[in-house]
Amino acid sequence: MRRGRLAHEKVDYATSMSDPPFILETARLGLREFVPEDADALAWVLSDAETMRYYPVLFDRAGVEEWIVRNRRRYTDNGHGLWAMILKSSGGEYTGELIGDCGVTVQRVDGVEELEVGYHLRRDCWRRGYATEGAQACRDWAFKNRNAEHVISLIRPRNEPSRRVAERNGMTLWKEIDWRGLPHCVYRINRPEPVA
Ligand SMILES: CC(C)(COP(=O)(O)OP(=O)(O)OC[C@H]1O[C@@H](n2cnc3c(N)ncnc32)[C@H](O)[C@@H]1OP(=O)(O)O)[C@@H](O)C(=O)NCCC(=O)NCCS
Repeated sequence: MRRGRLAHEKVDYATSMSDPPFILETARLGLREFVPEDADALAWVLSDAETMRYYPVLFDRAGVEEWIVRNRRRYTDNGHGLWAMILKSSGGEYTGELIGDCGVTVQRVDGVEELEVGYHLRRDCWRRGYATEGAQACRDWAFKNRNAEHVISLIRPRNEPSRRVAERNGMTLWKEIDWRGLPHCVYRINRPEPVA
């Protein structure tokens, strides 16, 4: 179980040299498909107990690898999934550093398939607006590329940071449901009206 790195620890978060192309780009981030070589960098996110405190499980190494396989299957089946979040330098160049995931997945809510914007960020990168930046780009991607009527985010009620990201993503609380056996808030934003 990881509690984060020590100040003196040097960690190479960069992943493979032959990364796939970016699907989305924002001022400070690029989003691309995950590849198996991302497992080490992703483990700093999904195997961190504090980052995963609102999830029923903490991912071990095999779990992280399966998570990547599951998302790669989503890319094939749906054309989208949770994507790797890669940081740019202040000069706008890609650093290759993987700091989390953000993307669009299909989730069944009350018997209906919905498009969900999801995000998980490495703990030392919190509170710099990265999740909001990535989530807004994913929301726009879903409206543009999937012609979605609305987009949602499923969030545990006590997960204040995630609720704030949803609100900054223009979403409002739609309903509260039991989802996979746990209480969840469903945040939602409708497709914007076309400008006349
Ligand atoms: C949720 C998460 C992705 C937010 O990432 P982030 O990059 O720190 O978020 P942002 O910097 O874009 O901040 C968005 C808002 O949340 C607020 N926020 C961020 N962290 C917070 C915290 N720990 N406590 C209270 N508010 C917080 C920010 O202040 C900001 O609000 P503001 O607009 O009023 O200033 C990050 O906390 C995380 O990875 N959490 C664990 C995984 C998780 O729960 N994912 C969501 C599953 S539904």
